[in-house]
Amino acid sequence: MNKTKVNLDKKISASYEIFIGEDILDRIGMIITKNNCASRYVIITDSNVAILHGERLLTTLKETGLKIDMIEFPAGEASKNIDTTLDIIKKLIDIGIDRRSALIALGGGVVGDIVGFVASTYMRGIPYYQIPTTLLAQVDSSIGGKTAIDLPEGKNLMGTFYQPKGVFIDLSFLKTLPSREFNSGMAEIVKYGIIDDTELFDLLESKTKAIKDKDITLLSTIIGKSCRIKKGIIEIDEKETGLRRILNFGHTIGHAIEAESDYSISHGDAVSIGMVAATRISQKLKYLPSEDRKRIEHLIKATGLPCRIPISISTEGILARLKVDKKKEDDANKFVLLKKLGMPFVNGGVPEEIARETIEELKG
Ligand code: GLY
Repeated sequence: MNKTKVNLDKKISASYEIFIGEDILDRIGMIITKNNCASRYVIITDSNVAILHGERLLTTLKETGLKIDMIEFPAGEASKNIDTTLDIIKKLIDIGIDRRSALIALGGGVVGDIVGFVASTYMRGIPYYQIPTTLLAQVDSSIGGKTAIDLPEGKNLMGTFYQPKGVFIDLSFLKTLPSREFNSGMAEIVKYGIIDDTELFDLLESKTKAIKDKDITLLSTIIGKSCRIKKGIIEIDEKETGLRRILNFGHTIGHAIEAESDYSISHGDAVSIGMVAATRISQKLKYLPSEDRKRIEHLIKATGLPCRIPISISTEGILARLKVDKKKEDDANKFVLLKKLGMPFVNGGVPEEIARETIEELKG
């Protein structure tokens, strides 16, 4: 099992470790016991993950001597709301969870976001651990302490920055992961290669077959590299006041496409197309050499991720959503663009005609 420490400024949040390995559930109990941050624990998971891994984790942690319960809620983004949050909080009160207790988020991004949010507010904040079960949660949402729930007015509108006490990444969860979910995580891994680490980019370029075959040794390497990249960014900018924004590469147009498709296009596919769009805009604005653009588009295609916007998605609809974002962002449409591979920057002003031309080019 590999270990990476997220070193945070102690005045803001305590540091914590990310553990990565295959079949590590039995060791999680020992580490949690050693950390000794609570006298009682509650696994919170969704209805899908409960069947696949919940009982197994509960039994394993009980065997290591932890006093532990499990709560589940219906799977899916639709559950990431205030009602689910209150249901969980009421259940925690019913079973007598107090400030000497800790939560364990077992699941993908929705579970991690809700449980982190509950942990940050329950009795003014109790500790929590992350056990991410999807590739996306393993390389992105479980690290960095962003917690959130959706409101009727929009996604992730209510949330906190609240760091976990530890993150356990068990590669064996990936064996049961559907392709759509796998691709969502791969898009973020490719993103890390583009924005931060040309060595990772080269590795991905040379191993596209092994990626598609879900080779576990390779996945372990690229997940480890991705976690180290994200932790390096979080250590510098925990609360996203500057550098952390580069993690949104591909997400500006990506989020607009995802929403415009009514979420029928997955987050990973939308981010993948969004990365192609941001790459093309970077070249059109004469920041990025065409050689780098070609390499990026080639890697995205070769890893099985999409580059084109379905014809049914309206260009004007995407542009309108970018304008709403722009208003939220103080009238500056913040695109993350590239100067070259591994060198992103935040650009406040992409002309609308360049965005329109790029979206049109990617149609079909
Ligand atoms: N997923 C982007 C971030 O954690 O900042």
